[in-house]
Amino acid sequence: MKHDIELRVNNETYKIEIPPWRTLLEALRDGLNLTGTKQSCAEGHCGACTVIVDGEAVNSCLMLAVEAGGKDIQTIEGLSSGGELHPIQEKFVTHGAVQCGFCTPGMIMATKAFLEENPNPQEEDIKEALAGHLCRCTGYVQIIEAVVAAAGQMAQS
Ligand code: FES
Ligand code: FES
Repeated sequence: MKHDIELRVNNETYKIEIPPWRTLLEALRDGLNLTGTKQSCAEGHCGACTVIVDGEAVNSCLMLAVEAGGKDIQTIEGLSSGGELHPIQEKFVTHGAVQCGFCTPGMIMATKAFLEENPNPQEEDIKEALAGHLCRCTGYVQIIEAVVAAAGQMAQS
């Protein structure tokens, strides 16, 4: 049996029909073709699937799509504006925090939710905020540097 739900993603409303066991991650990727959100472990261990739901960073592989109905969902596709990268995206690029890029959308969405809560973070706060995010490429140093730089830029704007 399928449910009719409305998903509000990046300020667009989508009406979809979905079985109750489908995750938000599956709805985004397979239902809406928003494939910027990545699937890796599908068990809540890696952070690759992180999106923002009502201001909170969540693992979309652990949330059912029906639970996300009517909530405000932000994904990596909604971050740039008018062809301009968001400051977090820009700092990830300029600090070499993107290598294969698989972890990057989740890292960036988690960073956005974190900096909106804590615009002036210490390095230890950043490490704690990103502790559930695995990156096989960068060794994390560049990612932390990118987040520090993004926080600085966002504080000035
Ligand atoms: S795919 Fe969701 S936490 Fe790994
Ligand atoms: S950049 Fe490759 S997994 Fe993080």
